[in-house]
Amino acid sequence: MTRKRDINVTQKTSALNTKNTSWSGRFNEPVAELVKKYTASIGFDYRLAAYDIQGSIAHAQMLGAQKIISQDDVKAIEQGLADIAKEIEAGQFEWLLDLEDVHLNIEKRLTDKIGDAGKRLHTGRSRNDQVATDVRLWLRASADQVGAALKKLQLSLLDLAEAHFDTVMPGFTHLQVAQPVTLGHHLMAYVEMLSRDAQRFADCRRRINRLPLGAAALAGTSYPIDRELVAKKLGFDGVCENSLDAVSDRDFAIEFTFAASLVMTHLSRLSEELILWSSPRFAFVDIADRFCTGSSIMPQKKNPDVPELVRGKTGRVYGHLTALLTLMKGQPLAYNKDNQEDKEPLFDTVDTLLVTLEIYADMMRGITVNKDNMRQAASEGFATATDLADYLVKKGMPFRDAHEVVALAVRYAVDKKVDLSDLPLATLQQFSSSISDDVYAVLTLEGSLNSRNHIGGTAPVQVKAAIARMRTALK
Ligand code: ARG
Repeated sequence: MTRKRDINVTQKTSALNTKNTSWSGRFNEPVAELVKKYTASIGFDYRLAAYDIQGSIAHAQMLGAQKIISQDDVKAIEQGLADIAKEIEAGQFEWLLDLEDVHLNIEKRLTDKIGDAGKRLHTGRSRNDQVATDVRLWLRASADQVGAALKKLQLSLLDLAEAHFDTVMPGFTHLQVAQPVTLGHHLMAYVEMLSRDAQRFADCRRRINRLPLGAAALAGTSYPIDRELVAKKLGFDGVCENSLDAVSDRDFAIEFTFAASLVMTHLSRLSEELILWSSPRFAFVDIADRFCTGSSIMPQKKNPDVPELVRGKTGRVYGHLTALLTLMKGQPLAYNKDNQEDKEPLFDTVDTLLVTLEIYADMMRGITVNKDNMRQAASEGFATATDLADYLVKKGMPFRDAHEVVALAVRYAVDKKVDLSDLPLATLQQFSSSISDDVYAVLTLEGSLNSRNHIGGTAPVQVKAAIARMRTALK
């Protein structure tokens, strides 16, 4: 993905430069200055430059192979574009507002450099299929980067899960203590979510990876082009089958942003937990200082800024998804200038997602776990009450009756301010004569964990196995 950087866009305003000669032929007066600024996309679409050049080279080579332009022209175009790529890379390229967008800036520079051969590059092509191609190439590279970043975060979470495969914590429903789980099991839930996210990007990539070029403005072109050849040169799996669809739909970008939104959803949930868990009320974890900030007024504060910002930036990515969906919904076929508005939300989605994944992978390596506090919390909320009910069922009592018996026992223990496991056998037997002294094995946290010993359960042996399976899947 070509990164965001600060570029200078030269705003030529002299009388000589107020016309965009690529299309100004039919106009009687120059475009108003404000309109020029309003309609130009060069301030952001410069990020497509490397892909624009890649697409143009493939297009020119195809034109040459089909004898639509000469081999000399192809050579001149290849050389000229390679030089321009170097100028851009070195920050020496002069981007002109008058030239509207990345496509016209590069084409004009090429023509200045190599003359008529440069003017032949646009044969059988339109900016409409050109920009759709550029965005797809850019997004394909971004999808690959996101895939790699997701994997890095998964590995970071796996390491933490492995270190805590048997660390006891309270599992919650309704944010009330429910049943004991291991921290490893809890973290593996997120690793699973991220696996599905990675699948979504891989799946979306298949639909991104189709070539629009050849659609020209909207209807195709009268030149004897070879679209398959261009697709092959650019590493596309095939061509877009309908020219009107090729230039106009941005569903692949919407899909990508949706997949990004779901990653952010998952990370926002984990962030919410880290924020709660690092609060002194929970004190389950400590986030390394390098991910936190202090307060300018309250000297005792250590704020979990990074998870808070992840939670906040999730809204920003959702906003981009809404923007792209809304952008598309009112557009008649085929290309409309509305589509120029696809870039900023898309670029910002990728930027936000990639930096979030990177920082998260690092942050999870800087988490210290307070095992004692987690264990203490797990033993406070009658987390093993279900285990007592299951115990009674195994002794022959119907589950609903067992539920009632345990509810009464819990009420008693709440009144006495003790845990179920603190009640003497004689007391427990007042609730059910089926209870004998083997009950204490199921009332302990470890007894409860170990009994959930099946695939997907929280027994430490199962968590270990799940981690091993995931490591193999990530290889
Ligand atoms: N900058 C334009 C975009 O991003 C390129 C395509 C312009 N096409 C046109 N017919 N004006 O969509």
